[in-house]
Amino acid sequence: MKFNKIAIKGLIGAAVLLFVQGTLTQQSFAQTIIPVQTQNNALVLEANNEKDLSIIFFGKKLADVNEYKLVSKAYKQSDDYTGLLNSVYTPSGSRNLVEPAISVTHADGNNSLDLRYVSHKETKLSDDVSLLSVLLKDPVYNFEVTLYYKSYFKEDVVEQWSEIRHTEKGTVTLHKYASANLHLKAGSYWLNQYHGDWAREMQPEESKLTHGIKTLDSKLGTRANLFQPSVFMISLDKPAAEDEGNVLYGALEYSGNFKIDLELDYQNNLRIIAGINNYASAYTLKSGETFTTPAFLYTFSDKGKGDASRKLQRWAREHKLLDGKGSRLTLLNNWEATYFDFDEKKLAELIRDTKKLGVDMFLLDDGWFANKHPRNGDVAGLGDWQENRTKLPNGIGSLIKEADANGVKFGIWIEPEMVNPKSELYEKHPDWVLKQPGRNEYYFRNQLVLDLANPKVQDFVYGVVDGLFTKNPKLAYIKWDCNAVIYNAHSSYLKNQSHFYIEYMRGLYKVLQRIRAKYPTVPMMLCSGGGGRVDYGALQYFTEFWPSDNTDPLERIFIQWEYSYFYPAISSSNHVTDWGKQPIKFRTDVAMMGKLGFDIVVSKLPENDLKFCQEAIKNYNSVKDVIWHGDQYRLLNPRDGSIASMAYINDKKTSGVIFNYLVNSRYGESSKAPIKLKGLDPDKKYRIKEINLYPETKSTINANAVYSGDFLMNVGFNPDVNSGRTSVVLQLEEAN
Ligand code: DGJ
Repeated sequence: MKFNKIAIKGLIGAAVLLFVQGTLTQQSFAQTIIPVQTQNNALVLEANNEKDLSIIFFGKKLADVNEYKLVSKAYKQSDDYTGLLNSVYTPSGSRNLVEPAISVTHADGNNSLDLRYVSHKETKLSDDVSLLSVLLKDPVYNFEVTLYYKSYFKEDVVEQWSEIRHTEKGTVTLHKYASANLHLKAGSYWLNQYHGDWAREMQPEESKLTHGIKTLDSKLGTRANLFQPSVFMISLDKPAAEDEGNVLYGALEYSGNFKIDLELDYQNNLRIIAGINNYASAYTLKSGETFTTPAFLYTFSDKGKGDASRKLQRWAREHKLLDGKGSRLTLLNNWEATYFDFDEKKLAELIRDTKKLGVDMFLLDDGWFANKHPRNGDVAGLGDWQENRTKLPNGIGSLIKEADANGVKFGIWIEPEMVNPKSELYEKHPDWVLKQPGRNEYYFRNQLVLDLANPKVQDFVYGVVDGLFTKNPKLAYIKWDCNAVIYNAHSSYLKNQSHFYIEYMRGLYKVLQRIRAKYPTVPMMLCSGGGGRVDYGALQYFTEFWPSDNTDPLERIFIQWEYSYFYPAISSSNHVTDWGKQPIKFRTDVAMMGKLGFDIVVSKLPENDLKFCQEAIKNYNSVKDVIWHGDQYRLLNPRDGSIASMAYINDKKTSGVIFNYLVNSRYGESSKAPIKLKGLDPDKKYRIKEINLYPETKSTINANAVYSGDFLMNVGFNPDVNSGRTSVVLQLEEAN
């Protein structure tokens, strides 16, 4: 059939007519409608009588499912010359004229693909979770794609991925293989994206999308989020506000190269095509082999960014983040306290300080290993994971014993994917290192990346972790770092270099799966020279992430704010350090907004500072449950004014914590107006008291006053933030 304008028009008309006589969700000879519905939203697919499967609706769901078929008719946009503009997974090389989701060269050298709807199946995995699979096939070639939609009803979240396979005679080259292809209709589209660098993670930028393609991508291989993470928001018609507006949040669950194309097409619809970056990654697929893409994750809210973020946070805690509903260890880290300069005696003192401070664990950072090329700086030793005999003559075991004797736990830093050229590992296994034969080596932080595509390297990396736990069964925690990007992407193990970026990630995930099979719950922090690797592909193996090496609390208010749209507070490791000019109270209050840790020299703290920290940790222990498991409400955005305010409220709306900061030190700046609280029960009564007071200071808050939820949400509460009270933490409890 020829897809000229007239032919397509006729085809659509016939299909609608036939559908009116057909039944929803049933496969008839005419149209098939497949709604993916969650509590509030719907993504509706339709196969016409030519078996083209398209997206006919995305957004807040309609009360009457029978009305989805009327949606397309309500639009009088210009013609679709392809019949594919709203394709559920746009193939290339036949009718398509826009950005494809998939592009292939068949075994016979032909470049065309057409995908037609064959069947679908919905399986209920639990009360909340359903899995829809939709099979599409090329009518000419033995080539098929199965689209998966895993929907989380309560949380309004969908994970979408694809499986690609064929039984052609020979191999097929996949030039593009997206996870998902969405299609949105609105008057205008506003993209909120992020960019960054070391210590400048999650810098937001909002702009109106113009016609053409805007691409968010990474080609860094490892540390893929360093310049740009894969998380983004699309607001429809106008930029969404915290509590108002239509907004989609998207994220690729993948730790490697990604590519998200946002194409505003000539009809004024937005096509979103997200997946692994096909940059230098044409994939040769054998007959019978299945290529599975990572999942693209999305949620939608018609109630603004706050609601969307709470949905995503809830989903993460319930379904994705490792031990998302569990608890976490507070800790003292020695990175900034000592850098590489420590020995057993110094560490024993720090372990005693851990106890004195009142946190749960001591975390030994970089610098504890390597002998031939000792790790006394970042230029040597990486890869040689034996205790340094000068610094630790009695090994990690003796440190764990010391921790045990002090009633605290012990955790350790590793960076097992990487190697310094100055290391025994590099000397013994030069073939395990990524580098281009005949070219100069390029270093990022004086190091190179190991070839995780190689199963022997996978065994080695797994062995680093397994070895530590086997030798030290009481080891309680791992901080997994990853400081280099991939230069000279070349694996001496792989025959086909264009598989490299994909095989690296497969290798990494295989290692993490092996670790989790043997050590299912041990807490692990995902770190990448700061927040260079934060994504849900990795977070299913990790309990928490390190947002940034920038721990200046003023900066952190902004960085943590942006992460909070996509990740729950329980996953955000926040440490009190000596960065910034703020007093210890301010620094500690900010770090309490997620998973609290310290990286300071406890023995050098002035008496009152130490006393403050000890009390703050006790306070944290009494409010951490609501911070970790409650709902997060952004009350005042630091980008909009001089005050930042963030609340955490428990499920029952009976208790909460509210953090308030002065983020502008100009004369006279203060919380002049009350701050309207959110997420309370209007009919309940509450008391609010100030916690985390610095020794010898008094609160200006009357802890005995009782307010209704109605008053607190409509008039608000003034935390009395001013230049003398730059940081105020409030605890809210239902008054009985
Ligand atoms: C980068 C991390 O972000 C830091 O926290 C620290 O662990 C250093 N690496 C150690 O080299």
